[in-house]
Amino acid sequence: MEILKLSTAKSGVEITTEQKTIAEQANRLLHSGLGAGNDFLGWVNLPSSIDAEQMAAIKACAATLRAKADVVICIGIGGSYLGAKAVLDAMSNPFELLHTEHKNPVVLFAGQNISEDYTAELLEAVKGHSIATIVISKSGTTTEPAIAFRIIKEEIERRYGKEEARERIVAITDQARGALKTLATQEGYTTFVIPDNVGGRFSVLTPVGLLPLAVGGVDIEALVAGAVEMEKATADDVPFDSNLAAQYAATRYVLYSEGKKIEILGSYEPKLQNIGEWWKQLYGESEGKEGKGIFPASVTLTADLHSMGQYIQEGERTLFETIISVAKPAHEVKVEADEANLDGLNFLAGKRLHEINKMAELGVQLAHIDGGVPNLLIELPSINEASIGALLYFFEKACGISGYMLGVNPFNQPGVEAYKKNMFALLDKPGYEEESKAIKARL
Ligand code: PA5
Repeated sequence: MEILKLSTAKSGVEITTEQKTIAEQANRLLHSGLGAGNDFLGWVNLPSSIDAEQMAAIKACAATLRAKADVVICIGIGGSYLGAKAVLDAMSNPFELLHTEHKNPVVLFAGQNISEDYTAELLEAVKGHSIATIVISKSGTTTEPAIAFRIIKEEIERRYGKEEARERIVAITDQARGALKTLATQEGYTTFVIPDNVGGRFSVLTPVGLLPLAVGGVDIEALVAGAVEMEKATADDVPFDSNLAAQYAATRYVLYSEGKKIEILGSYEPKLQNIGEWWKQLYGESEGKEGKGIFPASVTLTADLHSMGQYIQEGERTLFETIISVAKPAHEVKVEADEANLDGLNFLAGKRLHEINKMAELGVQLAHIDGGVPNLLIELPSINEASIGALLYFFEKACGISGYMLGVNPFNQPGVEAYKKNMFALLDKPGYEEESKAIKARL
């Protein structure tokens, strides 16, 4: 069985020979390293370059944290958080917390906001649990995780003393630069490196994603193996007609040029909801610049049919949809017959929920196509590490191709600096005196 399938048949798009060539050229440009942002192409061959030694070091560190703590707090934001969160949710039983026996430590996240209530409630919740932390920041200077780390570090040191705290704190950061690197070296924390040439949103298959996932009990070898398979299947010598990443990128490109400015990623599996969050960062930060780019949105179905469904069916016709479909669920639940049949559902008796979910998916697809919303379909055989690994790399590769087709540098994010400058000026950060005066005058 194929690890991932893509169908563009319902997108209404016919890719021309010229467009196929443009997509193939964009893929080759990624591999040649001659395109824009070429100092951030380390992710292109990353899955196949992860060696046994790296894997063993990550697994050994995860085993230490698993042995020491029943709650591991992962601190990070953006690309230093979304990948681990997405994969962990996809691979976990969402009701695990209610199980009395936990086979894995609970992985919680911090540093992805500055909310006082979130932080206070997190600290409150971990009282009585043994804790450890993984702090992740490529730059080592990002405000949100730095604040969270200061607080969690103090908590760990207060509870266990400085010596033991060093065994419970792991840093993932730049090889040489940044405040986190300086602190980690000074304190002697176990440290993993985020390669210079891998940007945050492409870093899920580095220790940034792999360590928290190994702590959470995910089979990271199978995850990487799935990504390796997709890396091969989308290599620079793979022709357009066999290259799913190029096909996805080219279809989006044509739809965008026809006025479809918003892409909605949806799935009928709630476990994949945070894959949508990770995907939004990947595509939003990579393509949304120079006044260009498809706006990435996401929905969870069928839940959002009862909220966003109306807009998708009849709102502005600037949308297209990409649905991640799962062929085979891991469990079986059937609707039973009921003698009274007061709810009128006996016509479903004997059917599996999966069959009903599939009919919802097909019915919605046709309704949306009739309503002028082109549909793309990505099909996973089931939700497992290999298919999720393949999906991650598929989206990354398509994103790189897509960015080059659009004519932007997909690997920078100049736009995220604007808010930081304002926030630092408002908080009177040393060095921002002039900006401080100017911004306060505007308030
Ligand atoms: O994709 C990116 O580069 C960003 O979203 C970063 O991941 C995010 O800003 C966090 O940065 P850092 O890891 O340096 O703390």
